[in-house]
Amino acid sequence: EAYRFVDHLLKKMSLKEKVGQMTQISIEAFLKTDEKGNVINPHELDLNKLAVAIKEYKVGSILNVGGTAQTRENWQHLITQIQEMALSQHLKIPMLYGIDAIHGNGYTLGSILFPQEIALAASFNPLLAKEASQVSAYETRASFIPWVFSPVLGIGRQPLWPRVWETFGEDPLVVSEMGTAMIDGFQGNDMANKYNVAACMKHYMGYSMPLSGHDRTPAWIPERELREYFLPPFKAAVDAGALTVMINSAELNGVPVHADKHVVTDILKGELGFKGFAVSDWQDIQYLYLRHHVAVDDKDAVRIAINAGIDMSMVPLDYTFSQDLLTLVKEGKVSMNRINDAVRRILYVKYKLGLFQQPLGNAGDYPLFGGKQHQELNYSIASECITLLKNNAHILPLKRGVKILVTGPCANTMRSLDGGWSRLWQGTNSDETEKDKHTILEAMQQTFGHENITYAPGVTFDKEEDISDAVAKAKDADVIVLCVGESSYTENPGNINDLTISAPQIALAKALSKTGKPIVMVLTEGRPRVVSAIEPFTSAVLDAFYLGNQGGDIIANTLIGKINPSGKMPYTYPRYTNSLMNYYRKYTEDTTFDTAAGYHPQWEFGYGLSYTTFKYSNLQLNSDKLASNKPIKVSVDVSNTGDREGKESVLMYVSDLVASITPEVKRLRGFEKIDLKPGETQTIHFIITKDKLSFINNDLKRVTEPGKFIVRIADLKAEFSY
Ligand code: IFM
Repeated sequence: EAYRFVDHLLKKMSLKEKVGQMTQISIEAFLKTDEKGNVINPHELDLNKLAVAIKEYKVGSILNVGGTAQTRENWQHLITQIQEMALSQHLKIPMLYGIDAIHGNGYTLGSILFPQEIALAASFNPLLAKEASQVSAYETRASFIPWVFSPVLGIGRQPLWPRVWETFGEDPLVVSEMGTAMIDGFQGNDMANKYNVAACMKHYMGYSMPLSGHDRTPAWIPERELREYFLPPFKAAVDAGALTVMINSAELNGVPVHADKHVVTDILKGELGFKGFAVSDWQDIQYLYLRHHVAVDDKDAVRIAINAGIDMSMVPLDYTFSQDLLTLVKEGKVSMNRINDAVRRILYVKYKLGLFQQPLGNAGDYPLFGGKQHQELNYSIASECITLLKNNAHILPLKRGVKILVTGPCANTMRSLDGGWSRLWQGTNSDETEKDKHTILEAMQQTFGHENITYAPGVTFDKEEDISDAVAKAKDADVIVLCVGESSYTENPGNINDLTISAPQIALAKALSKTGKPIVMVLTEGRPRVVSAIEPFTSAVLDAFYLGNQGGDIIANTLIGKINPSGKMPYTYPRYTNSLMNYYRKYTEDTTFDTAAGYHPQWEFGYGLSYTTFKYSNLQLNSDKLASNKPIKVSVDVSNTGDREGKESVLMYVSDLVASITPEVKRLRGFEKIDLKPGETQTIHFIITKDKLSFINNDLKRVTEPGKFIVRIADLKAEFSY
């Protein structure tokens, strides 16, 4: 049905119209400006400029980046204007508008800002990712926008990279399960539903592991490793029905991915059977010439990228792309087949989104936008993400009535709770736009009583301000809540050369430690900044990642004990800046060989405490022999041995003892989150199939080799063979 419609339409389209569909322009190009080119009003369109795009260049897609936060009404008006103009054209092809709604509809004021992906991953609960993206979809459609550039499916195992927080962490299984849950939440069973949006898998592939740690710099990942760790989340997402993908801006093994036919066409569209379309990242076709030096000019760049399999160019501001592409087709350097294939994919997505049938939104359809129901859901989701990493002598929860000094550069800013892509690209105006939400300080005052809280920032991220004030106030307090970490950032502006937490923050911690008052460190950060210079001074540590705009309340309520933390580390938290191993390191990297310089992370992947205690027992396998047609059933008992209700993520690892490729020390092969009342025991079941033990061998084939394996759950283990 969809293809019949699309093919019929395709036959009526001129080459110019086809090339237009492959063009995506940024909204900035259509805003009203003064004579100097300054935007007069960030949500007022210059209809003449829009007419050039739609009527002359037949542009088929618009995106939004940066820009001032706008109201829902402004959005609705703006999108309706665009859509009406697109529909006034003779083929009535609707516009496809896309936006970076990566943790809620971030560019619309009043929308819910959920925990960022890394925080969601810490919950080890894919259902939460689905629920969050369902609401994000609803609230994005409420701005009449049907396409989100989310989720990120890269493997976050390069902690320096400024976009680690946009990933689901370092484990491929967690990334796959969380990513597909998120896609399910965005798209539902029917993308045409007015509450669903199209998801976009990002950024295909290998973007997340630049060797230098800097954004958009080269990654060197052998194809075997790509297929073992980096490709599976994309495969899972394609199987789950994701219909758009954004391509990695950087180069992989020496080839810019936008120029790599093998990666884009052969693997993604061929092997994985991806039926949707591939959009470039920002200006990345042109960058094949300007940055990567693999093209001699703009036109050559277009030829290379389109022939590699890019279907839509995020141009983003002018029309050289479409003009060059037209010429290339006329010259026979890009075939008509390639153009038809790209346009067919784009129109297919527009059709599946219901844009042909229902191109215009209805403002009255979204009464729940930003409301109580969505806020409560956000609160309960974020409550499962906060992670307790240390709690000496049960100092937490803090008693009501204790005198608390709240200090540190993260204490009184929404930026350290929201992260990037929040209201603005870099999240720089969270403080101005989120006045109705609580910073950590405000939430602490509300939760513990103003009379019990004193505040001194002590330092900024890069300057020692007034440490003596903080120290003086600490002397009158019973406990210090030290809020350290990072502000908001993404992409290149977030590059760093040193993973260590900034020097002023270390200086503040050191000075405070001299007061002898217990320190509770609250980390709000997008990547695991090395805190080994501070951690020894602390009695307790909470990692809040970027919890979203209710993060302040979540932190305060965790400190007072209303929330029992249940998050676990979604990545290995390094202790040393020069020791960045991940948990599925190889045996050859392990401590067995060198105890001094081996694997000693600050906190391991999967580590996280609770205010209650859990006991694992009775690990059982129904057989000690796995066969192709006979999976092994694993069961384990988990008991809550403490005195309060708590949630626990049960993680099952398997170690392959001998294989033709050096096996990893262990791999996560299953996980499940449960809720236990005090004294309650639950039996958790996992299945181990032959496929779960498979790996990519040296011939790039997925195989399961016979041999011995060990199942590990908490500190229990059992052996079986295949
Ligand atoms: O979606 C983003 C991408 O993640 C980074 N570059 C810009 C795109 C559109 O805003």
